[in-house]
Amino acid sequence: MSLHDRVEFWFISFIHDKLYSLSMNPKKLLLPAGLKEGDNVLEVGCGPGFFTLPSAEIVGDKGFIYAIDINPFAIRKVKKKIAKAGVKNVKAMIVDVTETTLKDSSIDIAFFFGVIHSLYSIIDRVILEMHRILKDEGIIAIQKSGKSKDCLVDIITQNNKFKFIEEKKSVLVFQKIE
Ligand SMILES: C[S@@+](CC[C@H](N)C(=O)[O-])C[C@H]1O[C@@H](n2cnc3c(N)ncnc32)[C@H](O)[C@@H]1O
Repeated sequence: MSLHDRVEFWFISFIHDKLYSLSMNPKKLLLPAGLKEGDNVLEVGCGPGFFTLPSAEIVGDKGFIYAIDINPFAIRKVKKKIAKAGVKNVKAMIVDVTETTLKDSSIDIAFFFGVIHSLYSIIDRVILEMHRILKDEGIIAIQKSGKSKDCLVDIITQNNKFKFIEEKKSVLVFQKIE
């Protein structure tokens, strides 16, 4: 990773881990996104893991969180948090969202918080991969950023792989169409 990548990650860590935690309760977005006990969840672009351990708490021992990021620093940081907290229901992986390596039809919910703006240029591949890994009627939950609700709904629903369900807080919820 370049020096630029390291500095950018340090900056994101500072904002998300230190400043967000002063003003935001992560569960206030995770619960509207639909996470519940027993779910298998994909966290896309976990970054420093602001949402990762709270997600693990919500899904409990019967659920599981796959936290993915393309940035090795992010995954290293999340792995440290997992080890420190002693949680067993999270796996942090350095993978791209377009090639998650997860099994077909294995995930209940994939959530995209603070990341969708980075994915517009590869959105067709993202949608195909989410459609592959989600169970029937599985959910993607996207925190709006960079585009209006209508524009984002058009983008996610354009290939008829997902239908728009509802907007809760700043999260748009979509369901897989078979
Ligand atoms: C702004 S951070 C958000 C972190 C976290 N979701 C939060 O809200 O606190 C966006 C993260 O998405 C990751 N990311 C960007 N493109 C990605 C991709 N194609 N696949 C997986 N992760 C990606 C970045 O490396 C970065 O860590």
